[in-house]
Formats: sequence, C-alpha cells, structure tokens
Amino acid sequence: MKQKKVCVIGLGYVGLPMAVALSNVKVKGKFYYQTFGHDIDNYKISKLIRGIKNKKLPFDSLDNDLKKKFSFSCSNNKIKIIKDLNELNKMDIIVLSVNFDFIGNKNSFKNIIKLTDKIVKNVKKGTLILIETTLPPGTYEKILMPLIKKTLLKRRIALNKIFFGYSYERVMPGEKYYNSIINNFRCYSGYNKASKIKVLKFLQTFINFKKFPLIELNSITECETAKILENSYRATNIALVDEWVKYASLIQVDLLKIIKSIKIRPTHSNMMLPGLGVGGYCLPKDALFAIKSSQIIHKKKINFPFIRLTSKINNKMPLTSFELIQRKIKKLSGKKILIMGVSYKENVDDVRNSPTNILIKKLKEKGSKITIHDPMVLKNKIPKFSLFNIVLFCVKHKAYKNIPSKFFSKTTSYFDLNNILNEKKINFLRKKNLKFFILGRYHE
Ligand SMILES: NC(=O)c1ccc[n+]([C@@H]2O[C@H](COP(=O)([O-])OP(=O)(O)OC[C@H]3O[C@@H](n4cnc5c(N)ncnc54)[C@H](O)[C@@H]3O)[C@@H](O)[C@H]2O)c1
Repeated sequence: MKQKKVCVIGLGYVGLPMAVALSNVKVKGKFYYQTFGHDIDNYKISKLIRGIKNKKLPFDSLDNDLKKKFSFSCSNNKIKIIKDLNELNKMDIIVLSVNFDFIGNKNSFKNIIKLTDKIVKNVKKGTLILIETTLPPGTYEKILMPLIKKTLLKRRIALNKIFFGYSYERVMPGEKYYNSIINNFRCYSGYNKASKIKVLKFLQTFINFKKFPLIELNSITECETAKILENSYRATNIALVDEWVKYASLIQVDLLKIIKSIKIRPTHSNMMLPGLGVGGYCLPKDALFAIKSSQIIHKKKINFPFIRLTSKINNKMPLTSFELIQRKIKKLSGKKILIMGVSYKENVDDVRNSPTNILIKKLKEKGSKITIHDPMVLKNKIPKFSLFNIVLFCVKHKAYKNIPSKFFSKTTSYFDLNNILNEKKINFLRKKNLKFFILGRYHE
C-alpha cells in the first residue's frame, strides 16, 4: 500500500488537531498518510516546531487523547511542517483549515483567493483540494472556481484532473476535542461526482462513519449553507433565552428549573440555559455570513431579520449579567472583583470574542478593580475569595467543579453567571446565608 501525502493548511484550533488525526490513521495496520502542515503565521509555526520537539501541544488542552496522539505523532516524526507552498506539488490531498473573517466586502476574500491560487498553481493532477473553512455560501463555486478554472487553463490541466471538495468542521475544542473529529457526523460535497467520491473516501479514512454516517449534499454551496444555517440556529437558540432571563427577573421565577422541565420533551431537548453570553471564533460571525453571501456573492438584498436580531442580542448578552450585578451591588466603583474564567467556553484556552471580556469592560467603566483567574488561559492559582468584594463565576471550567466550601467567605458577594456551581454548593451557600445570586434564578 502506497502512503498518501496530505497537507493541512492553517494549523489553528481546527487544522492542527486534524493534522494529528490524519497522522494517526492506520489502514490494514499501516500508517496511511504522510502528513504535512503549513501556516502563514511564523510565530505560530515556531511555537508548533518547539511543541513538536518537546512532544507537547502548542496550546493548552484538557483532552488527554489529543495530547497522546500529538506526542505519538511527534515521537515518530509523523507531522512535517512545510514553509514553501511549491511543495504542494507532491500532495495527494490538501485540506484548507484557514480562518475566514469579514473585514470589508473586497478584502475579506483576498486571503482565500490568494491561497487557492497558490495551491492551484502548484497541485499535481489527481489531487483533492478540500476546504473546511466556514465560508459565505457561494464562495467556493462563485468566487474561487472561476479563478481556479483560469489558472488550470493556463497550466493546461483539464478541470476534471483535479478534485474539489468541501466539508465543514464540527470539532469541539474542550475535553473531547480529538473524539469530536473522529466520532462526529459530517456533511460533504464536491464540484462534480468524481470529487464527491474522492471527498467521501478521504473522510472515511479518519471518521468512524459506520456509527456517524457521512451525508452527501448536492453542491458545495449547499454544504457551505448547511454550516451557516447550523450555526444561525444555535446562535438564535441562545439569543431567545436572553429575553426570558430578563423577564424571569421581573416576575421572580427560577428559569433554570423551568427550562429543565421543558427540556425533558425530546422535541425541546436542545433549549439553551441562561448564560453569560456567546463567544468563540465561530458563533458570533457565522450567521452574518448569510447576509454577506446574499449581498456580495448573489447580489440580492435579503433582510434576514432573525439573523440580524440574533447577532444584536448576542453581542449585548453579557449586559444582562452586568445589569444583575448592578442591581444587587449598588456602587461598583472601587469594588474589588474576582473574575472566575475568561475563555469563551469551558475547558479551552481560547479567548476569542469571550463574553467575559465584554463584562470586564463594563465593570472597569464603572471603576471596579478586576482580577482574573483562569485555569486554562492564565494557569494561575485561585486567589482567596476573602480578598474580594465580589466573585463572578463566568466559565464552567472543570477546575471550578469542586471548589472547597472553606474558600467562600461571608464578606464577599457571589454571582453564578453560567450554571457553574452545583446544587450542593448552592444549598451550602444559601444555608450559610452568603450573598449569592444566580443568573436566571430569581425565585427567592
Ligand atoms: N475553532 C472551532 O471550534 C471551529 C469549529 C468548527 C469550525 N471552525 C471553522 O474552522 C476554520 C478555522 O478555525 P480555527 O478556529 O482553526 O481558526 P484559527 O485562527 O485558530 O486557525 C486558522 C489558521 O489559519 C492560518 N492561515 C490563515 N491564512 C492562511 C494562509 N493564507 N496560509 C496559511 N495559513 C493561513 C492562520 O495563521 C491560523 O493559524 C474557521 O472557518 C472556523 O470558523 C472552527
């Protein structure tokens, strides 16, 4: 069996674990891929090269599986970094896991266009170019494909000699990071039938597809759309709860209990719980790609009222927590506040669009003195709660699961803004008559 050469371009939170997964693929007991990686960010690459040397992931993760697989790949020299994109001429598969950000109508597409052009200038016949990046629907077929066709024409390579596919990522950074690549459903599509088959065969080499079937969509645009709708749905679900958190405060009800009683219905099982807000790289931006797709790619002005409202509400969601704090602590100026958790979600070291940061900004504007604890981002020790007027639990990190009761001093006020403390701890705090408030739970 001849090993295939695969190169992952963009070695961030999605691309690096993907490269690790590919470098561990075995077929009939033999490693199937020679894995290469490339990134434009020199700082990231030097950190990664150091990580490969020390067999240690260049970012912090609680996922032992990912750590072990990465260490194994490094020990066996299974991931090689390439600096020069000319080397793409030897690859059988090229996976694009780069970021795509909206930075203005013209500029936003520059990076992916330039990169695709470089790839197509170098690829050999028979290569599969698979994009995983979340894109405004229509980007691949309407923006990239016409340019790809021109470049291939210049190279005198027939279009059907190269394969073009799309399959967006559903990886979930956190405790089950690695598992979420292998054991997860995926949608995919390709430019033509042959490309679709190539993508399917590729995905089948590393995804547990018997348990998690792969779903073929008609076109690449359909697949790009699936990702945007998927994340719009989730973002809207989150936004819906925010207005109920506000109303629960007015009518003094325990929204957490209410939602849990509703979630028991299988049709409503994915209702969101009250929380500090939406963050991360994807959810705040992805839904808005629908608007950009309609305006820039499809040249049609579509209103998308849900998406606009969702985005507006989600951007302001941390203010609901801020208002709760302000209601309970009349004067915030000069107050010493300990923030427990600054990453955008639990058990990750990623702070992109963290809702905690929006809250911190508001508190600072009011003159509060902020100290931050985060076991993943800052890796610092939990300071004594008694040193603070207020402790805000913002992120449900595993490290906050069993904070000893003796940590909680009577002189401090506590706020749980993300369902972080368990019922046992909540009962303890209530019994001790500590000043303790929970976002969305206002029944007492
Ligand atoms: N982070 C997640 O949990 C997640 C989950 C599902 C999907 N996604 C999507 O996957 C994509 C990647 O997300 P991410 O979180 O890994 O982003 P990231 O910023 O962590 O990684 C992207 C990497 O691509 C590199 N890059 C950008 N342009 C490049 C170029 N021209 N050549 C080479 N490298 C280049 C960047 O330097 C960066 O290291 C995005 O479209 C995102 O929306 C992310």
